[in-house]
Amino acid sequence: MLSVTDLTVSAGPRTSPIGIVRGVSLGVDQGEILCLVGESGCGKSMTSLALMGLLPPGARVSGGSVELDGHDITHLAPHRRVRAGRGKLAMVFQEPMTSLNPVTRIGWQIEEAVRVHDPDANPTDRARELLEMVRIPDAANQLSAYPHELSGGMRQRVMIAIALACRPRVLIADEPTTALDVTIQRQVLGIIRELCDDLDMGVIFITHDLGVVAQIADRVAVMYAGRLVETGAVAPLFRAPLHPYTERLMACLPDPAARSKGFATIPGSAPRPGEIPDGCAFAPRCPRAQDVCRGGEVPVVRPEGGRRALCHFPLAEGETA
Ligand SMILES: Nc1ncnc2c1ncn2[C@@H]1O[C@H](COP(=O)(O)OP(=O)(O)O)[C@@H](O)[C@H]1O
Ligand SMILES: [Mg+2]
Repeated sequence: MLSVTDLTVSAGPRTSPIGIVRGVSLGVDQGEILCLVGESGCGKSMTSLALMGLLPPGARVSGGSVELDGHDITHLAPHRRVRAGRGKLAMVFQEPMTSLNPVTRIGWQIEEAVRVHDPDANPTDRARELLEMVRIPDAANQLSAYPHELSGGMRQRVMIAIALACRPRVLIADEPTTALDVTIQRQVLGIIRELCDDLDMGVIFITHDLGVVAQIADRVAVMYAGRLVETGAVAPLFRAPLHPYTERLMACLPDPAARSKGFATIPGSAPRPGEIPDGCAFAPRCPRAQDVCRGGEVPVVRPEGGRRALCHFPLAEGETA
């Protein structure tokens, strides 16, 4: 449905561009949740903004393609991506307060999206229906609420309702639950899963939190320094990660049985765009790295089951980095 091939996003002067997203290929199917996971600054948001055609000034798509249902939308203006057919791509951002208008009732804000994307629908009826779809209790009355009258979790549900107004085939959610506490987060994750199943929609869910990935993903794409270093179905990826970075990230998950040890971290920090070393970008932090990792092409490992990793020394099952 959505198919991204070798997507490259660059910033800086065209004569010496800085690679922010470096050859990302991914796809998402109907009824599937793909989680894009990686540390802060690795290029997750820039990838999603490139898919929406919403890159900030100074950043640009410098290679690769984005196809939706076989149509190349790589360089289409944002409103044309959404309207290519009946609404196709929609996005939810991390902080709903910056996307909602604070002085306008939420019902009106949803109706506005319905008028733009679904002109045949009755705006008020459809707005109430959308609020019901995101399980806002007493939807008919909540239409007249102002954003500040709602909790963070309810506001994020309103943002999802607005995104659904265009009847998207693919919903891109960029850290939609990061600002919420865990109980509320779980409810919002549950709603996204239900919508994905009921509407047969594809979802690209972006997070830095592997705990969230474990709760919601069907498939996972692990990003490091602008590249996808490992992709695969969630169960095998968690059971036997191939890339040392994936394994180290998993080792940082809080383990209730080992609370006294505190949080583990990966020593060092991810390289910033423009300072990414040749070869494998993770090599400076990788316990398995050898000379061969510090330059040249990194081989692609493809074991069975549609898995894929970029590594000279992938892990065997049960092995730790
Ligand atoms: N407007 C911009 N121009 C150039 N570089 C940017 C811009 N915005 C963000 N970046 C850089 O792009 C990199 C990736 O950022 P981002 O996609 O937001 O990371 P993530 O969402 O994974 O935390 C960061 O290193 C950031 O400094
Ligand atoms: Mg981000």
